[in-house]
Amino acid sequence: MTEQNKLENGIKENGESVVEEDIVNPWEVQSSSSKGVDYDKLIKRFGSSKVDQTLIDRIEQITSKSGRKVHHFIKRGLFFSHREMHRILDLYEQGKPFYLYTGRGPSSQAMHLGHLIPFIMTRYLQEAFDVPVVVQLTDDEKFLWKDLTLEECYELSKENAKDIIACGFDPDKTFIFSDLDYIGSCKDFYWNMKRVEKCVTFNQARGIFGFGDSDCIGKISFPAIQAAPSFSTSFPHIFNGRKDIPCLIPCAIDQDPYFRMTRDVAPRLKFQKPALLHSVFFPALQGAQTKMSSSDPTSSIFLTDTPNQVKNKINRYAFSGGRDTIEEHRQHGGDCEVDVSYQYLKFFLEDNERLEQIREDYSSGKMLTGELKKELISILQPLVATHQEERKKVTPEILQQFMSIRKLPCSDKYPPPDPTASSGKKKKKKKNKVECAKDNGDAVVSKTAAAEAPTT
Ligand code: TRP
Repeated sequence: MTEQNKLENGIKENGESVVEEDIVNPWEVQSSSSKGVDYDKLIKRFGSSKVDQTLIDRIEQITSKSGRKVHHFIKRGLFFSHREMHRILDLYEQGKPFYLYTGRGPSSQAMHLGHLIPFIMTRYLQEAFDVPVVVQLTDDEKFLWKDLTLEECYELSKENAKDIIACGFDPDKTFIFSDLDYIGSCKDFYWNMKRVEKCVTFNQARGIFGFGDSDCIGKISFPAIQAAPSFSTSFPHIFNGRKDIPCLIPCAIDQDPYFRMTRDVAPRLKFQKPALLHSVFFPALQGAQTKMSSSDPTSSIFLTDTPNQVKNKINRYAFSGGRDTIEEHRQHGGDCEVDVSYQYLKFFLEDNERLEQIREDYSSGKMLTGELKKELISILQPLVATHQEERKKVTPEILQQFMSIRKLPCSDKYPPPDPTASSGKKKKKKKNKVECAKDNGDAVVSKTAAAEAPTT
């Protein structure tokens, strides 16, 4: 390997690795900084937009009408990036409400605190905007990527659905589906998958997702499955065949590649592009260089942990931004930016004044790491216990209710498209019956172009 090559591959002369750019993709998140991923840089790289004060004020203005405040996840920059939120809000104000789509790959029983973040946000948006939610459980994805049987993945999707329901979704406005179940039962969903598959070449998929020669072909076509719920015709039982219901996807930023692809193909299929609201990663206990992960139990606080486990994990593993000795700490203060306990408080301590007080006291040295951890423990223990209580309440009947293909009461808001209008259109379409415009850029889609070019 030449020196240049070595540097490009992130290896220094002495063999140490130097990760110059944060690694962020659906399978890996790694930063070399203890402060975690540089999210401003990521917005530039991905070509998304920052959730700025103008957007926050706008959400505030709309949600205050129903007596709600902007969620602290948004105010505190934890949902920091978006694509086309303003279009969604414009349409909403014109009386054309959107629907929400989010998902989870059920790879283990053990869901952790980080997994809750998009669901807490989605539930808040459901309530604040009074809109339907679809939740995709990609048990098919996990079958392809992990060493699990179909039966196991399917079981896990139902177990995870209980945790999702425990977040408080409204059964009258929420449809949770397992891919392994739903795709075989809904022709319209399957047809949308096919439409997307026809629009994306292998070369493009490799550019976006980094697939290699030894990846099974299931993986290569999977992104079309994650794209399909972005289009309202994939849920005929909810949207009655309407093509024009806009979609907003709250998700962690690592899922963005799927939706860059989706947004790229949508106009060619005459669908609306889905809008996105991206969250930061939930840091691992050991520090913000990477995210919390079920495969490393010491990095995670699980939703099944006992109060004692919660306490011990925080005390033992939560990376501290405090100083080595009490004297030094009192003199120089701690560093909230790298302190994992403080970062977790940003997610889960709702009281702004208390949070600010803690930040001041910790940074000035008045508060010690042990005291900060105690504060966090006192918030997380009841949070986890309440989740367990709520989950217990999810009976098989309730699970069945959320997961069955059914008309939702809100479906009445979406009268089917006018058949006369569509027959007029059909005539026009016949001339141009290719569902997907010919791929026009295969050769020019380089890895960076496809993965990171701004899509509007
Ligand atoms: N691929 C995601 C995961 O592994 C699951 C997922 C499917 C998803 N559709 C989504 C996540 C939409 C966010 C938004 O967890």
